[in-house]
Amino acid sequence: MSSRRDFMGKALGGFAALGGIAALYAMKRSWDPLPSVKAAGFTTVDLSAAEPNVLNVEKWRGKPIFILKKTPDMKPDDRDVVVGSDRFHVSIGLCTHLGCIPAYQADNKKFKCACHGGEFDTSGHQIFGPPPSPLEVPPFKIDGTKIVLGEAGPEYTKMKDAGLTV
Ligand code: FES
Repeated sequence: MSSRRDFMGKALGGFAALGGIAALYAMKRSWDPLPSVKAAGFTTVDLSAAEPNVLNVEKWRGKPIFILKKTPDMKPDDRDVVVGSDRFHVSIGLCTHLGCIPAYQADNKKFKCACHGGEFDTSGHQIFGPPPSPLEVPPFKIDGTKIVLGEAGPEYTKMKDAGLTV
């Protein structure tokens, strides 16, 4: 009897594991960048259609990348990515506490992490809760109205040298 229970337990465990793997696979597939982008290791995003105070979430190397066009009333910051006369906040969208993906609250103009209530302002600085550091800025290069994620251009290098990317 106990061996039968063991078998049932293992079988159910197996099903659960399979379900988990299927879920992980589906998640991974939906997070993968396009093959050509993946092969090159960078993602190019045209910023010209971006709307102020609307969060765009792009994918770069399997990570969510936040791109937020700032409104004039949002405080300018040394971490802003400046394209023409527009300012953007660009960061890896993973909370620096335990890696959850914070949600953007357009009404409150802040990012809120549901995990433990951490909050970040529109420059990615932690303003509340347990996050120990700002949202990280990914390597980027500005190319006209486009941003190339994964390539370190002069603007990123300057930010990194000043210790502003983390
Ligand atoms: S993971 Fe974001 S507050 Fe804990």
